[in-house]
Amino acid sequence: MTGNQQATAVAYPNIALIKYWGKRDEQLILPMTGSLSLTLNVHATTTTVQVDQALTADVVEMNGAQMDAVAARKVSVFLDLVRTLAGTAVFAKVITRNDGPTAAGLASSASGFAALAAAAAQAYGLNLSLRDLSRLARRGSGSASRSVFAGLAVWHPGDDQTSFAEPLDSGPLDLAMVMAVVDAGQKSVSSRIAMRRTVETSPFYPAWVEQNPRDLQTMQAAIAAADFTHIGELTESNALRMHATMLGALPPVRYMAAASMSILDLAQGLRGQGVQVYATMDAGPNVKLLCQRPDMPAVVAALRQVLPEQKIVQALPGPGVQVSEVGCA
Ligand code: PMV
Repeated sequence: MTGNQQATAVAYPNIALIKYWGKRDEQLILPMTGSLSLTLNVHATTTTVQVDQALTADVVEMNGAQMDAVAARKVSVFLDLVRTLAGTAVFAKVITRNDGPTAAGLASSASGFAALAAAAAQAYGLNLSLRDLSRLARRGSGSASRSVFAGLAVWHPGDDQTSFAEPLDSGPLDLAMVMAVVDAGQKSVSSRIAMRRTVETSPFYPAWVEQNPRDLQTMQAAIAAADFTHIGELTESNALRMHATMLGALPPVRYMAAASMSILDLAQGLRGQGVQVYATMDAGPNVKLLCQRPDMPAVVAALRQVLPEQKIVQALPGPGVQVSEVGCA
């Protein structure tokens, strides 16, 4: 690496259809089981990394202000990893902008660490394959390994070398996702803490570890067969199973709110009327509705009726991470 390099990268969040919940190695961020997700085309994160010989510490800015100390520390720890790979100790300035809400269970950490990994790798002169970029992004946030890729992606469990995400062909599927932003505030318990608590205390967790690989295999077969009904049913049941493991933790982790439940009811009601729509939820009360693109207007109209005040976001499959700008700082 020579001089003061800088690079900018853009990445999008992904929503898991088969969830990742629980680590077998917290340091290396190795998941207990594999997962499968859809990268979206909304709520991008754009991150610039400027390697600067004059800095005496990393400087991290988010949405125009200094990032809070805990989050900035995570960024610095991640940059240490990149610096070790690059064989340098030079600090960097990180400027990041999030188009969507942060830490609200809307996958901001996935887009955030995918963009940071790509920009930092470029700025520090690492020449990584997409597979190695996915492995690197994984070390920031597990789900970020999947945002390296466009559309559908599978993240494999395994060891440090073999745990990466790969793109998956979506064939003739015409997927869409409608997000009901019930609460854009920060979640009460981070996914990191909630996962650990579930693994350590939930009597339901061993059943999840046994069942999730089967769900993943069935999902891959349903995707290969372009069987949307099966894909939707598995998506909803897998999300509810994940939340069931958390409800069994001590103290319990409950992200589902009353409004989340009413959206689950709404999806069920719409299915009764012949609209193929299925719900999924992550580490927060917001609900994402998986449907096929032609059904998106009907899903949005039904949501507006029950949630006239809430933000509704319409998403389609989005691109993988892209380095948009490289240069000297
Ligand atoms: O990668 P993290 O630590 O943000 O965890 C993500 C966990 C879920 O979003 C709940 C599930 C998933 O597979 O994305």
